[in-house]
Amino acid sequence: MLTLGIETSCDDTGLALLEGSRNVLAEVLSSQTEIHAPYGGVVPEVASRMHEEKFLPLLIKLLESAQIKDPSKEIGLIAVTVGPGLMGSLLVGVMSAKGLAQAWGVPMVGVNHLEGHIFANVMAHENLCPPFLSMVVSGGHTEIYLVRDYGDYELLGKTRDDAAGECYDKVAKILGLSYPGGPVIDKLAQKGDPLAFKFPVPLSSSNEVEFSFSGLKTAVLWTIKKLKAEGKFLPIEDLCASFQKAVVASLLGKVRLAVKKTGIKKVAISGGVSANSGLRAALKEDGEIEAFIPPIRMCTDNGAMIAAAGFSKYMRGEVDKLDINPNPSLRL
Ligand code: KG4
Ligand code: ZN
Repeated sequence: MLTLGIETSCDDTGLALLEGSRNVLAEVLSSQTEIHAPYGGVVPEVASRMHEEKFLPLLIKLLESAQIKDPSKEIGLIAVTVGPGLMGSLLVGVMSAKGLAQAWGVPMVGVNHLEGHIFANVMAHENLCPPFLSMVVSGGHTEIYLVRDYGDYELLGKTRDDAAGECYDKVAKILGLSYPGGPVIDKLAQKGDPLAFKFPVPLSSSNEVEFSFSGLKTAVLWTIKKLKAEGKFLPIEDLCASFQKAVVASLLGKVRLAVKKTGIKKVAISGGVSANSGLRAALKEDGEIEAFIPPIRMCTDNGAMIAAAGFSKYMRGEVDKLDINPNPSLRL
């Protein structure tokens, strides 16, 4: 059974062919990072136009690399992200999936992007099975779910304001660093002193599984303003290391709290921020948490994770009709 996975919820056009539940036969990805970089964030209208431009050439490349001659006979399922995400971007994927499903006579399933991130970990780790906790940390999300079973998810808590990745991107902008800020700050942080500045760990005294990153961003902003006003040199590496220390402490603290509240130690982490070296090291060192993190290329948005989540839905007996529509604020 081959599943074609389609991901276009934000700024990555990702397509993949998955055999069964885990074996990635072929995958292609077109990232728009460089196109959005001058604006310091994703420009929705530009993102949807780029998906439109890239979709068919990528599909042809995917089918060629997997040596698919007749998709109508060789592909058994089309899985596509239906939300959450940017409306224009989602529309390109969903409408393309509908057209292909109709033309090839193949069933389709709509996939929640967050379920896709959960399956990035399921695909990568054969020993990861429910119940487990899943933290999705990206530019758009910072959430912890209880995965009771596949298809049975409970949101334990999320961010009150900015997502962790969004905070990285905003702090990078304040520091005059390039977009996306996460990888740049992460690299600089490794050369800096995490104790040089004392930034607040958001909601550290709250007994709720919830995050907040806008106050931390403001704290960095005021520190920089003060240093500049005093005519002092900006120790970028130390600022990055101290900022990263606070973000990692916040994420780790809330994961620990979720583990304590549920009694479940298995925690799957995914989304762009799960590539962070500080977070990875802290999770590895923690004796209480059994952490699962996918390989870096599976941390960010991709078609394979959508194919895996879609295949699981299909195996659970769920199929969608061609009247399915994208939902930018879809919940899990
Ligand atoms: O999952 P993703 O590719 O896209 C979505 O947001 O859906 O995540 C991108 C986010 C960006 O905000 C980026 O700055 C952040 O993940 N990111 C990182 C790292 N690599 C990417 N944040 C911290 N450390 C990193 N190494
Ligand atoms: Zn994502």
